[in-house]
Amino acid sequence: MSLHIGILTAGGDSPGLNAAIRAIGKTALSRNMRILGFRDGFRGLMENRTMRLDREALSSILTRGGTILGTSRDKPHKMPVGNEMMDMTDAICDNYERNNLDVLVCIGGGGTQKNAFRLHQKGLNIITLPKTIDNDVAMTDITFGFDTAMGIATDALDRLHSTAHSHHRIIVCEIMGHNSGWLALGSGIAGGADVILIPEIAYDPAVVAAAIKHRQQCGTNFSIVAVAEGALDKGQYKEYWRLKNKKAAAKAKGDKSTAKKMNEALASFGHKNSNNTLRLSQELEEMTGLESRVTILGHYQRGGTPSAADRLLATRVGAACVDYIEKGKTGIMVAVDGGNTKAVPLKDVVGKKKLVPMDHPWVAAARDVGTCLGDK
Ligand code: F6P
Repeated sequence: MSLHIGILTAGGDSPGLNAAIRAIGKTALSRNMRILGFRDGFRGLMENRTMRLDREALSSILTRGGTILGTSRDKPHKMPVGNEMMDMTDAICDNYERNNLDVLVCIGGGGTQKNAFRLHQKGLNIITLPKTIDNDVAMTDITFGFDTAMGIATDALDRLHSTAHSHHRIIVCEIMGHNSGWLALGSGIAGGADVILIPEIAYDPAVVAAAIKHRQQCGTNFSIVAVAEGALDKGQYKEYWRLKNKKAAAKAKGDKSTAKKMNEALASFGHKNSNNTLRLSQELEEMTGLESRVTILGHYQRGGTPSAADRLLATRVGAACVDYIEKGKTGIMVAVDGGNTKAVPLKDVVGKKKLVPMDHPWVAAARDVGTCLGDK
């Protein structure tokens, strides 16, 4: 009997998902494997909502944004069912068996890697692909979706320049990225932002204002501030990491109640809302005397057709995934390693986040060209 592969996409959508589904599907079909899609992430697997992925379904999807399978952020072990949160892991395992799957491919970001690992621990054969516009999945050089989103954010920064220039304004542009700064830093450098604020570097609004005033003194009466949605000022940064560390310690001790409290407290920080961005804009207006406006790019950054680089990357990891399936490798993520891929055990991926290291060449390049990163 030929191998039977299930596929689902979970977490926030990301350009390149359809290219990855197509690559897995076409490679698998050409090797006489069978393939079945599940709709809307782990929820669709739990509810056994499937989609046939034959040659027709896989055709003409390479260039399409989003995911033809649909997605959700539902977790197998904590799924809203009616008014309750329920552990639906058993139902998921039953449907895996009912469909006679040999392996399940889960395509997603950090959260999906965690959920997929849990299913692997329950005995399912799991392979994951790393995708997210945030580029923050550990153990892989890059994730597909990132390049497209960086291009969109760069284009926005380009466009904001002419209006900021014409009105002699500050424009604070909020860029996604969850708690990592890859997207803001990459697009900020490419889009020539004068200030780039990322979660990895605590910022001081007075330092940002001084950089803008310095530009004014040199005769430039506008500034573009690219701020990551998770960026924090010095005070918030200290408090955020205090709560984070307390949560980790409570988790390690099995103290669920403290961990829950810390989680609730952390919910008010950074990427969860745009309060910081709005406050920063106001502070800069007060400190510089220039008018300031806010642009929140939001989900616009995740939409539309994937870039050539993302199509290529998603096709590479998708095709490689089928190679690993043929070799009988499971419990792994197909990671990008330069021009190659490598199989990384899921246990080495989960619970980690790839943040921007302070010695990264992008950080050095930004400082070298005189971009203010908010700290000095
Ligand atoms: O993880 C991708 C991402 O776009 C983050 O950058 C952002 O914080 C989050 O998803 C938004 O989530 P949602 O689509 O659920 O609002």
